[in-house]
Amino acid sequence: MIKKATAKAPANIAFIKYWGQRDRELVLPVSDTISMNLSDCFTTTTVDFGDYKNDQVEIKYDGGKLEVVSGKAADRVLAQVQRFRELMGIRENVRIVSQNTFPAGAGIASSASAFAALTKALAQATGWNGTKQELSVLTRLAGSGSACRSIDDGFVKWNHGKDSASSYAETLYPVGYWDLVDIVVVVDDGHKAIGSAEGHLYAHTSPLFKSRVRDLPVRIGQVEAGLHHKDIEQLGEAIEIEAISFHAVAMTSSPRLFYWNGMTIILMNLLQECRKEGIVGYFTIDAGPNIHIICEGSMVAQLQQRLNKVDGVKRLYVNKPCEGARVVEEQLF
Ligand code: DP6
Repeated sequence: MIKKATAKAPANIAFIKYWGQRDRELVLPVSDTISMNLSDCFTTTTVDFGDYKNDQVEIKYDGGKLEVVSGKAADRVLAQVQRFRELMGIRENVRIVSQNTFPAGAGIASSASAFAALTKALAQATGWNGTKQELSVLTRLAGSGSACRSIDDGFVKWNHGKDSASSYAETLYPVGYWDLVDIVVVVDDGHKAIGSAEGHLYAHTSPLFKSRVRDLPVRIGQVEAGLHHKDIEQLGEAIEIEAISFHAVAMTSSPRLFYWNGMTIILMNLLQECRKEGIVGYFTIDAGPNIHIICEGSMVAQLQQRLNKVDGVKRLYVNKPCEGARVVEEQLF
């Protein structure tokens, strides 16, 4: 029986980045990637199949204002609906309403939380009852590959896999494993010019791409060791080099993709200064100018104090590792 359902899913921050694809149609990455779910950056999505005139996709903003989503963004959402219609033999039209706790399109993985919440809500609404692993695969197929890492809990590894069925993400360490924090430092909340979906297509045009892919197994080992030993220096060194390596590929691809701005550099330098004073935090950066500071919980207050003094810092989101996609009772409409 189909019903109305709502799911909530976190964004995630990649310690090892997904950049470039082995298979575009199947959304298969070139290597394994590793991430942490973000407790304070999430999307809630309600799905209702029923007697609607057309399929409709809407975003709900603070204050309850609804905006209709059209064009490519709506097409991507409805393609995922279609996948469930075919799997479950459903004909009804759908109404979908989504709400974010953070700005979309600015390097805080809004599509990851959006597609994870959408897929989880669709599974619940249509009565699909596959495994978590299969749900991760279905989420990946929606096109935002990183979304498959927002299904399972805590610290997550996406195995690149041999084929579609084996390319899924699962928990490496659970939510309470380590008191690690991601402070998202928002310096720009506008939409990026070229999103990740398009960026993946250009990755291989960079002369640095091959060496990046060659080095990734070593870096993955370092991140895994850092997590295993709960060693912030080891983890931090590895994720900073990894973030720079991903951006170096983006910056040297055709077309060139410069996601950083002046503030990005200012904050990277600030972190180096802080470390000299014993305030330990390391950066990673997705496809946008905003920095994510990875640190242990004991460093948050001092880092916040330093960041609040910097002109140009608009907002901070302090995230802990959290559960993956969940069905929730409260509906958005
Ligand atoms: C730089 O294709 O998953 O964030 O659909 O925009 O969420 P969106 O992106 P996706 O690529 C993510 C690229 C990345 C690195 C990462 O999260 O692994």
